[in-house]
Amino acid sequence: MSKQEKSYTSEAKFMLHGGDYNPDQWLDRPDILADDVKLMQLAHTNTFSVGIFAWSTLEPEEGVYQFEWLDEIFSNIHSIGGKVILATPSGARPAWMSQTYPEVLRVDGSRVKQLHGGRHNHCFTSKVYREKTQQINRLLAERYGDHPALLMWHISNEYGGECHCNQCQDTFRNWLMNKYNGELKALNDAWWGPFWSHTITDWSQIESPSSIGESMVHGLNLDWRRFITDQTISFYKNEIIPLRELTPTVPITTNFMADTNDLIPFQALDYSKFAKHLDVISWDAYPAWHNDWESTGDLAMKVAFIDDLYRSLKQQPFLLMESTPSGVNWHQVNKTKRPGMHLLSAMQMVAHGSDSILYFQWRKSRGSSEKFHGAVVDHDNSAENRVFKDVAEVGQTLEKLSNIVGTNRPADVGLLYDWESNWALNDAQGFGLETKRYPQTLQDHYRTFWEKDIPVDVITKEQDFSAYKLLVVPMLYLVSEETISRLKTFVSNGGTLVMTYISGLVNEHDLAYLGGWHKDLQEIFGIKPVETDTLYPRDQNTITYHNKTYSLKDYATVIELTNANIEGLYVEDFYANSPAITSHQYQSGKAYYIGGRLEDAFQKDFYETLIEELNLAPISNVKHEKGVSVQVRSSAESDYIFVMNFTEQNQPVLFESLVTDMVTGEELVGEVVLRKYEVRIVEKSNS
Ligand code: GLA
Ligand code: ZN
Repeated sequence: MSKQEKSYTSEAKFMLHGGDYNPDQWLDRPDILADDVKLMQLAHTNTFSVGIFAWSTLEPEEGVYQFEWLDEIFSNIHSIGGKVILATPSGARPAWMSQTYPEVLRVDGSRVKQLHGGRHNHCFTSKVYREKTQQINRLLAERYGDHPALLMWHISNEYGGECHCNQCQDTFRNWLMNKYNGELKALNDAWWGPFWSHTITDWSQIESPSSIGESMVHGLNLDWRRFITDQTISFYKNEIIPLRELTPTVPITTNFMADTNDLIPFQALDYSKFAKHLDVISWDAYPAWHNDWESTGDLAMKVAFIDDLYRSLKQQPFLLMESTPSGVNWHQVNKTKRPGMHLLSAMQMVAHGSDSILYFQWRKSRGSSEKFHGAVVDHDNSAENRVFKDVAEVGQTLEKLSNIVGTNRPADVGLLYDWESNWALNDAQGFGLETKRYPQTLQDHYRTFWEKDIPVDVITKEQDFSAYKLLVVPMLYLVSEETISRLKTFVSNGGTLVMTYISGLVNEHDLAYLGGWHKDLQEIFGIKPVETDTLYPRDQNTITYHNKTYSLKDYATVIELTNANIEGLYVEDFYANSPAITSHQYQSGKAYYIGGRLEDAFQKDFYETLIEELNLAPISNVKHEKGVSVQVRSSAESDYIFVMNFTEQNQPVLFESLVTDMVTGEELVGEVVLRKYEVRIVEKSNS
């Protein structure tokens, strides 16, 4: 099946626009609920995620239910032709439940039971919590399953965290028994048992790591992380049982996250596993636009990278489930979006495959911690302020883009991201403790393609490699024999593979490969990496590559050449004049190894050469300067081209062939100047 055919076609043939709506905070204000309906229309919104944190309103006392208010919200939204993404309320629970059934409360790594409070803090194993969740979910499905406004299920909210209670410990032990077929020897082998006398002689001795940095048993840490992912999925699967039973045709999603300080993919759960259980991927994006440490373009590249990863999890369009129309309340500095940025940042999501722009939240809370978080409707209840107007503009724009719904973006370049390898690498004591930066390294390799408008699928290891001409695999520290053999097949069949320093060092148990680099990797690359040198921040080295010099930092691999060609050499240190970059023709394909961490200019020149060699065409023929990004979604009929100015200056762009602006209807050809943060969405007919 081609990637195009696998496209998710949403139930609705329109772009979703709206967001988290928490009317349960306003039930004593019918005037405000009535205003909501009017304002929703003025904002050109059509879809609302409802009930995310409404458990205490839905079930104020155990077994006493209140649905009438939600009936009314459903009919309000339906009356304006809108849709509801109905949430299951497990993200936060009523106080009575924590009081009556303390087992629902989470126990932290130091074995301290948490008090009721906050949210997203229940035990994923608790039988009671699982039963209660299923019960309320069943009632919601029974009551609203046939409602014409119901579009989709939003399961819980931003699953994350871990619990160390006794029930979780027992379940972890069972998970391990199952994984190691009841053989303690297998577990001890995988965990390198005798190290510091950690051999386990009875399953009951196993305890979760109090915190990963404190436990030196890497196999245990890695298995615990895997267990957390599995246990979270298991909780989710328990939640959806009544929904699959009663509403088999209603799609299901849960909102994924990013880690936000540096804007990298969410680290704590392996989303590649989770994705298989969802019908649609959705995520919550909160980039710190206009920050004082990076350019707007650099940040845009990071957003694009996550979009491309989350889209590629299912190779189909995704949903932006949450974003802010202005600022958030939890960044170090909560800056509002400058004029133009809201439309631009929204269109960037659509450009990379989102079929929605949804917000947290519709109406700003009056009290508690989110009362100053950006929202569509501010405390002034007005449709006249800047933020509201920006939202309405996005709504009007999306109304013109409905042909784009369900379309995907083909890519010839795959960039491999692996959660497990990153966990193990972060756990590894060695290298530079602060400089591993795996996700950031992937971004460094992604940047050139982004700047050159070459689409990239950021894929995970179980995906089909054969779909790509070029597969880039930076810092894949942990790699199983199976993945190695699939990489080998990829190259033998004609693929081009790029790998870097700190790759292929340990197997899936985080045990080092013995006897040097894996024989298959040696065969593919024609080299033996023999040492990884780690540099201090002030250490200087350079490499020469195709007659140019590039600076190197953090890592340099000493390489012994067997069959490869030398493409670049180290300049300094005891490995001066030895190979830093190599290439090797292996059967019908080619394998490149990059031994050191190099400045951006290297990535740019290196990948430019590959782009030429492999004939990787930019996705459109729109010409522009740096800081402008062009992304395309396409259907059989048309290419939908997003031209986005992520700079603070006017930018001339050149349309080489005739296109139609999808928003203004103008026909464009030749040079067009984009103002600061301006975006143009144009259609180019394929006929
Ligand atoms: C998360 C949550 C929302 C809200 C926002 C605020 O994404 O899912 O409920 O708290 O953060 O940015
Ligand atoms: Zn627990």
